[in-house]
Amino acid sequence: MDLPKKVTMIEVGPRDGLQNEKNFVPIDIKIQFIRALKAAGLKEMELTSFVSPKWVPQMRDAGEVVEACLNSSRDIVLAPNRKGVDRVLHTKGKAVAVFVGVSNSFNKKNINKTTSESLEELKPIVSELKEKGCFVRACISTSFYCPYEGKIPPGETLQLCRKFVEMGVDELSVADTIGMANPKESFELFSMLKETLPDVLLTAHFHDTRKMALANILASLQAGIDRFDTSAGGLGGCPFAPGASGNAATEDVVFMLEQMGIDTGVDLDGLVAAVKIVAPHLSRSIDTGYYKLQTTVQ
Ligand code: HMG
Ligand code: MG
Repeated sequence: MDLPKKVTMIEVGPRDGLQNEKNFVPIDIKIQFIRALKAAGLKEMELTSFVSPKWVPQMRDAGEVVEACLNSSRDIVLAPNRKGVDRVLHTKGKAVAVFVGVSNSFNKKNINKTTSESLEELKPIVSELKEKGCFVRACISTSFYCPYEGKIPPGETLQLCRKFVEMGVDELSVADTIGMANPKESFELFSMLKETLPDVLLTAHFHDTRKMALANILASLQAGIDRFDTSAGGLGGCPFAPGASGNAATEDVVFMLEQMGIDTGVDLDGLVAAVKIVAPHLSRSIDTGYYKLQTTVQ
């Protein structure tokens, strides 16, 4: 099998992982969680998002999180609009993720705009961020399926990705928002994106709703992808995508890749220690394979 020797793990636990959590996780726990994840070797991370606190109350302390934790050029902060980006620019943040859905119906539910309205708003913003020397990541939601519209034609996902590349983004994080994609679809979409858009960092973001995330990661590796968004403890889900559950669990992905001889740079014991910090503050239990084994078997 032709596979990369090394992959980059992008940790999304503090953002995607927590945004859908019912219990408000106290700021000192968020800070300890992020610091422990960094200590485990995760060098690229979504720390938080500057979104409306009315829409996503868990992220209302975004400014404090950034103030306490941001110390790397790949500490990423999400922002959906002008106001969010202005809030980021008031911090030391130098890596910004914008997010848009391929599906209009999802984008309306998530950002209260159509996909093309979001694109129009983001075009000058991306130029400005690039002029200011920022790293810009575009998260492409509903790249495979939409909870409201069903199957998304791969050509539509490619078209949206291409628009962001033309705007000058550095990275595309291409997401299976509701965990519906199968390995064949993952292989085909990522093969097409890799071939068509060779000059952008391509990252795969799989939610694990139907327990296909690991299989999809393997299929994407075979398509040449070597960057994966994952969430410690398998936490995650978008509040505006009904039925979406957690992301691929960082510990399970790291375990699988390391067993295959692929270097992730992440220390599994450190990762388990990070999950233990946040676990008691959550409304759900952590049931990822690696974490359960480490915490229940002596
Ligand atoms: P809106 O109600 O249309 O906004 O929401 P608005 O422009 O009309 O403003 C309404 C109020 O919100 C105003 O305050 C604004 O100041 C405030 P008021 O005058 O009522 O007091 N506001 C803001 N406050 C803080 N930060 C901001 C901001 N913008 C406006 N940035 C809005 C539009 C985009 C704000 C809203 O829809 C929103 O916050 N959406 C975020 C949804 C979200 O966070 N979703 C999850 C992240 S995406 C995801 O998880 C998918 C991903 O993981 C990939 C995948 O898996 O698919 C990335
Ligand atoms: Mg997500």
